[in-house]
Amino acid sequence: MSEPARGALDSRIAAYRERIESVLDSVLALPDPGTTRLRDAMRYSSLGGGKRLRPVLVYTTGTALGAPLERLDAPAAAVELIHVYSLVHDDLPAMDDDDLRRGRPTCHKAFDEATAILTGDALQALSFQVLAGEPTTDVVEAAARLDMIRLLALGIGTLGMAGGQAIDLESVGRRLELPMLEDMHRRKTGALIETSVMLGAVAAGVRAGPVYGALREFGAAIGLAFQIQDDILDVAGTTEQLGKFAGADAARDKPTYPSIVGMAEARRAAAEQHDRAIAALAPLGERAAGLVELAHFVTGRGN
Ligand code: IPE
Ligand code: IPE
Ligand code: MG
Ligand code: MG
Ligand code: MG
Repeated sequence: MSEPARGALDSRIAAYRERIESVLDSVLALPDPGTTRLRDAMRYSSLGGGKRLRPVLVYTTGTALGAPLERLDAPAAAVELIHVYSLVHDDLPAMDDDDLRRGRPTCHKAFDEATAILTGDALQALSFQVLAGEPTTDVVEAAARLDMIRLLALGIGTLGMAGGQAIDLESVGRRLELPMLEDMHRRKTGALIETSVMLGAVAAGVRAGPVYGALREFGAAIGLAFQIQDDILDVAGTTEQLGKFAGADAARDKPTYPSIVGMAEARRAAAEQHDRAIAALAPLGERAAGLVELAHFVTGRGN
């Protein structure tokens, strides 16, 4: 990508990050949290860190289709709250047992395990609450909100994230065949990324048709590419760069693209999904520009 284009992408991402930070700060005000410890843990885990890729996808897709940013705040917050919940649970001792996340102690280290479990539970509930139209006013029509709730539920349940995480945990120490590894990655990580793109479309009023289908294909391809790159970075990145411990997958004997097919083939597979994502965007014409840049970002990223 040329330098000016790169600069434009960086400033757009920075603006969306700033916006989502303030939306999250307001939905996480939680005036009556049960205990302040629970609220503190939810805010600690959600605010001031992370790439915010999923909200950036909601904003980029939605604005490409003509939606004002106000219509996109609720779905953008909803997907990030789910993502943070998934990270908090993924790091628990019963799952990946990680102590470092976004450059800081993981939720169960900074607080305790029970609080981390409840933090994930409450973040998931808050996500659906926000998507349903609370506490922000319902700027998106009820039928579209219902569609978004359905899509998010499908993306994070047994067909998507939770199912993928279950395969991941059962696969420790095993040598998965490539189709199974791909399925695991599509579910545990790809599904929420695909859903983020779909929510942007639905909030913009695109709920079926060729553009909807194209965006679904785009989201699925960058979603798989994203987890392949996550696997690659676990090998090729440093702890400082990643904000989480590098080499954790090998240490835990997790099946990953580099461990199953090797580094060169993993990079080729990520590039293939990148190209597939871009090709899928053809029906959007010039409106695809921002999404094309995000596809480059997903496979070119260093953290
Ligand atoms: C990490 O996701 C977990 C995966 C699904 C691979 P990100 O790499 O998007 O994490 P943050 O949000 O930037 O911390
Ligand atoms: C995480 O995959 C997937 C979800 C959180 C749903 P990883 O276990 O590879 O993510 P990191 O590497 O810990 O961020
Ligand atoms: Mg994991
Ligand atoms: Mg993990
Ligand atoms: Mg990983």
